[in-house]
Amino acid sequence: MSNPFDFTGKVVFVSGGTSGINLGIAHAFASRGAKVAVISRSQDKVDAAVNELKNYGGEVIGFSADVRDYAKIKETLTKTHEQFGLIDILVSGAAGNFPAPAMGMSANGFKSVVDIDLQGTFHVFHSAFEFLTKPGACLINISAPQAYNPMELQIHVCAAKAGVDMITRVAAMEWGAMGIRVNSVAPGPIDDTEGMKRLAASKEARQLVIDSVPLARYGTKQEIADVCLWLASPMASYVTGVILPVDGGWSLGGTSVSSAGMKKALLSKGI
Ligand code: NAP
Ligand code: COA
Repeated sequence: MSNPFDFTGKVVFVSGGTSGINLGIAHAFASRGAKVAVISRSQDKVDAAVNELKNYGGEVIGFSADVRDYAKIKETLTKTHEQFGLIDILVSGAAGNFPAPAMGMSANGFKSVVDIDLQGTFHVFHSAFEFLTKPGACLINISAPQAYNPMELQIHVCAAKAGVDMITRVAAMEWGAMGIRVNSVAPGPIDDTEGMKRLAASKEARQLVIDSVPLARYGTKQEIADVCLWLASPMASYVTGVILPVDGGWSLGGTSVSSAGMKKALLSKGI
């Protein structure tokens, strides 16, 4: 059997692929021969990510675009198709987060996160559909434990990511007959990321989070990327509609564990 993790010539599109977990995913595919397109709002971040990813020797393109702008997202997917061909692997990872109690955020604060995470995912999926390899495309949504564990100070993210997971499930049903697989990966607390800098900034807060993880440590960006490689490989050819926690068991304790650890961490920050 040929190497199932050789992605030579495959086309990968990653929304929010210019930093953190999503850039780690882009790295993983680029270093295995894929042609990679990344998008995010900041042109500087796009340029830096494209330069970094080119070190792996493959073809890389990037575009500055806000996932809240459907026309712009359609344009980036059209350009990706023109330059690379049909899209084999689509990762929707653009997201926003800030910790705040429900009554400490405005309607616009709630809307901003829902528009980026949930509406943005719909924009990416909807505008990519005509350019997907059929059969064979693999779509991955980057979700979060907040999608199924209610978490205080995260009402916007909980609502948005729960919706994202429903997009995963419905799209898996509607598009399965066309040979398109759709899954969510839900990372737990991942080291050296903007997300965890915002949610557990201090050493004490970090320890509180670690104490709530059964594997007793943060995860790495590589560990999330590895699961995405597996999902996109022929090894996962019968896997669709799944919400896959990659969280060291963090979500097993549900609200009683993960939310308590996170809440204590956030409160220790004075929020
Ligand atoms: P990050 O580095 O801030 O990644 C977010 C990415 O999305 C950035 O590239 C950002 O770039 C882009 N982005 C934000 N708003 C956008 C918009 N409106 N349009 C287009 N792009 C936008 O954060 P991260 O912590 O690695 O998180 C990455 C993903 O993992 C997210 O989906 C997050 O919910 C999920 N996650 C993270 C953790 C964790 O431990 N960090 C845990 C669970 C789930 P620009 O600023 O240039 O737009
Ligand atoms: N507490 C309460 N409200 C907040 C807030 C906070 N910490 N941070 C932002 N908001 C509110 C703003 O006040 C604003 O509401 P208002 O217009 O009623 O005042 C609303 O959120 C939108 O803020 P704005 O900065 O204009 O939005 P944006 O679209 O430029 O940015 C965010 C979106 C807020 C999600 C921003 O944090 C972001 O760009 N995040 C991307 C990176 C990230 O979050 N990474 C981690 C991913 S898990």
